Amino acid sequence: MSDQSISDLRKDYQKDSLTRAELLSDPMQQFQSWLDTAIKAKVLEPTAMNLATSSAEGVISSRMVLLKDLDARGFSFFTNYESRKASDLAEHGRAALCFWWGALERQVRIEGVIEKVSAQDSDDYYSRRPRGSRIGAIASRQSTELSSHAELEQQVKEVEKQYAQGAEIQRPEYWGGYRLLPESLEFWQGRPSRLHDRFCYQKSEDGQWQVRRLAP
Ligand SMILES: Cc1cc2nc3c(=O)[nH]c(=O)nc-3n(C[C@H](O)[C@H](O)[C@H](O)COP(=O)(O)O)c2cc1C
Repeated sequence: MSDQSISDLRKDYQKDSLTRAELLSDPMQQFQSWLDTAIKAKVLEPTAMNLATSSAEGVISSRMVLLKDLDARGFSFFTNYESRKASDLAEHGRAALCFWWGALERQVRIEGVIEKVSAQDSDDYYSRRPRGSRIGAIASRQSTELSSHAELEQQVKEVEKQYAQGAEIQRPEYWGGYRLLPESLEFWQGRPSRLHDRFCYQKSEDGQWQVRRLAP
């Protein structure tokens, strides 16, 4: 254990501020602009986002996934359709995303409903993945118990064997994408003395976005 108590660890956020005047009227464009800044700033894994889901009984779980597509409809990521998250999303079709770009002292929170992306979109993305990732997606029964890493390696070898003759590696039906259709997005910029800037866009019934500043 470190000598320093974690309760004494603190960082004052000084880098930037966020004003209502700077906000774009479309939150997806606002998000794209912050993502572009994070990519330019060479933030580690700028597309990494926390995904929180719930089972039908209300058991919450979260994990990191990578944003792979962004358009006016929403935020897409790819995964195993038989994983724990997939089972949650089948039972409870709402989810939350959270990005943390530490070097920029920025957080974005997004909440909304989930849909599967089309089989065509999943095929397109799968075919663009490196061979090792395509093999891994077939071999790994994500979220099931493994006895050892060697067992996983053995499963990979077996899949490799099936495709040894150069046969085209097809996307397995248990792997594909989801899209989160946002109903709210919150942009958070760290400020000195914890007096952070927070702006929340909420979609109203007529489809328009309302923006509110929230207390930090
Ligand atoms: C930075 C980072 C990015 C990740 N990206 C993905 C991803 O895009 N898709 C995925 O299925 N798992 C991804 N993972 C692994 C997940 O966090 C998680 O371990 C896995 O999806 C199983 O989650 P589940 O059992 O809750 O379904 C990523 C992990 C990290 C740390």
